[in-house]
Amino acid sequence: MKHLILFTMLLSLSCALSAQTGERKNIRIATNHTDLILQVPDNGRLYQVYLGERLRHDTDLNHLDWQVHPASDGSVVPRGWEVYSGSGNEDFFEPALAVTHADGNPSTYLYYVSHHSKPVDGGTQTDIVLRDNRYPLEVTLHYVAYTEEDVIKTWSEISHDEKQPVYLSAYASTMLYFSAGSYYLTEFSSDWAKEAQMSTQPLRPGKKVLDTKLGSRAAMHMQPFFLLSIDQPADEQQGQVLMGTLGWTGNFRFTFEVDNVGNLRVIPAINPYASRYELKRGETFATPEFIFTLSRQGAGQGSRNLQAWARRYQLKDGREPRLTLLNNWENTGFNFNQDLLAGLMKEAKDLGVDMFLLDDGWFANKYPRQNDRAGLGDWEVNHAKLPGGITALTDAAREAGVKFGLWIEPEMVNPKSELFEQHPEWAIHYPNRETYYYRNQLVLDLSNPDVQDYVYSVVDRLLTENPGIAYFKWDCNSPITNIYSPYLKERQEQLYIDHVRGIYRVLQRLQAKYPHLPMMLCSGGGARCDYEALKYFTEFWCSDNTDPVERLYIQWGFSHFFPAKAMCAHVTSWNRAASVKFRTDVASMCKLGFDIGLQELSAEELEFCRQAVTNWKQLQPAIMDGTQYRLASPYNGNHMAVNYVSADRSMAVLFAYDIHPRYQEKLLPVKLQGLDPDKLYRVEEINLMPGTSSTLKAHGQTLSGDYLMKVGLEAFTFGNMQSRVVKLTAQ
Ligand code: DGJ
Repeated sequence: MKHLILFTMLLSLSCALSAQTGERKNIRIATNHTDLILQVPDNGRLYQVYLGERLRHDTDLNHLDWQVHPASDGSVVPRGWEVYSGSGNEDFFEPALAVTHADGNPSTYLYYVSHHSKPVDGGTQTDIVLRDNRYPLEVTLHYVAYTEEDVIKTWSEISHDEKQPVYLSAYASTMLYFSAGSYYLTEFSSDWAKEAQMSTQPLRPGKKVLDTKLGSRAAMHMQPFFLLSIDQPADEQQGQVLMGTLGWTGNFRFTFEVDNVGNLRVIPAINPYASRYELKRGETFATPEFIFTLSRQGAGQGSRNLQAWARRYQLKDGREPRLTLLNNWENTGFNFNQDLLAGLMKEAKDLGVDMFLLDDGWFANKYPRQNDRAGLGDWEVNHAKLPGGITALTDAAREAGVKFGLWIEPEMVNPKSELFEQHPEWAIHYPNRETYYYRNQLVLDLSNPDVQDYVYSVVDRLLTENPGIAYFKWDCNSPITNIYSPYLKERQEQLYIDHVRGIYRVLQRLQAKYPHLPMMLCSGGGARCDYEALKYFTEFWCSDNTDPVERLYIQWGFSHFFPAKAMCAHVTSWNRAASVKFRTDVASMCKLGFDIGLQELSAEELEFCRQAVTNWKQLQPAIMDGTQYRLASPYNGNHMAVNYVSADRSMAVLFAYDIHPRYQEKLLPVKLQGLDPDKLYRVEEINLMPGTSSTLKAHGQTLSGDYLMKVGLEAFTFGNMQSRVVKLTAQ
């Protein structure tokens, strides 16, 4: 108690001192083109005074005033945009932080204590310490500003020194404010086989919330990212757009609130739904990272900022090449044996891909994994199906000359499994209600350290016993059902959060031991792709929907936040009405793979696929490591086009697709972007079916980058599900 009184006196003194001196301290978080400026005025609190295009003159910072947006009723209580507003203070709108202190008081007033900036890889990190003036509760706000990419990453840490635990019922990562005439929100709603569907709506007074309550498989219904455009709906090449995403593999909530004077606050956070968090003295609650960019040249530039940033600083092995592969899920499902797989490995080699990926169905003996009703949890190879074990498979892959990858779903258990028989208490389920299932399975309780050890050991043992495993596809097919942890006992409300933290602990341990093992993040399609998980995964599976027409929309959506390098796209037999060429050309825009029985291809189609793999590999400097320009949106018509340009602008590739064009509709030329206007490029249509030749007018010509960007290529046609891949090589 004594040190609480001393602490409170000191803080009041420091607040009083700054009030006397009338100081106004600015904290500048800046990238090359963006300024986020925070201010500590003489009341000692912390306010956002500017977020926008970088200010040219440092002296202008002196004119920024925290009270520029007073209450419309002329009230005398000064109101500003408090950076980390606490519940119960004089701001009557949604707070960033809501704490019930040990004595039951629900209010928090945070005062500036100190800040510090230091250089970090790619930019500058600024840490700002705030403290309540009546309770020993501290919040540290962290900001990393990535200079060149114009990306800011921000998160917060909450801790306290109260004798008894405090309860957190809101714990935002940050809070951002805007003042404009109108705001438009683009969300990316989802479902199985319908991921990242874009829709835009104006924001009106009151709140709009984007959230999920799924626990695991957390982005099944909504992706953890959004576009917020100012004064006009998001456009690809113009307008001011905030693009934000939360690095959290669990329930998230974005709140957009337009207040009484038409200002907007954006609050990205873990969803506090059923998650009042008990924070003990000395513990630190770290929020997830919120990552954003503010583009003044529309969504296209914003995406390029995020894609470049991710490859350089966040995505696992973002600067390294990726493996092309042949997967067996769409081809064989659960029906395979050792000989059949050995045959597929030879086919993979013949196709020219780097790896064979064995999917679901290879494990469990007492309750064999013949279908999705049994076996999850028993990660022993099924001896009847695969008598030679994984060793026989890695040997066969080596003989065939390809790498070997394996599917796992280690966070789950089927009640029909030996694991569940031995450890029913490891599964999340109610002790006193009938259990309900999603895909016949339950989620393991990763809040329990024993379960974390078990999940870690599953993966570690597979790798130790089978050093030939070169890759994992890590799946997660169920949301959390029956939300009750036998381990957490009376602290049930922590389960949604501690479960996700448990997953990270497992992934951190694996990363420490196997730092460069490539892994695909999969969640019954694309229900997991956030930037925290992607610190541990090299790529993610966008969707089980591999119908190429649907994929044009799905990949378009995800490309707003992720580089092509992180997005897996496979050629399958979904939509057989589309040609193998069309399907392959669509998959070639991302990390290319195949999941199709090669026997069902004609000799010409197989030859085409081989050539497409070779072409894709040659184009890696553009597709995987270059810059992407979205040129024609499938949402705006019957066509879609993107182009990629290598860093030195010596190589580029245009992908152009016709979906279902109308009779005699107007076909516009496709104007490329990002080329060197003064370079001459040889134009060559590639990915042609054997025996056919290009009908592209400019095929074989040499054209300047300037011409290609201003006049463009007549790349669209009236054809149904037609595609063109055009390679541009600087001469
Ligand atoms: C869902 C994934 O999205 C599919 O690709 C496949 O791996 C199945 N799970 C296997 O059960």
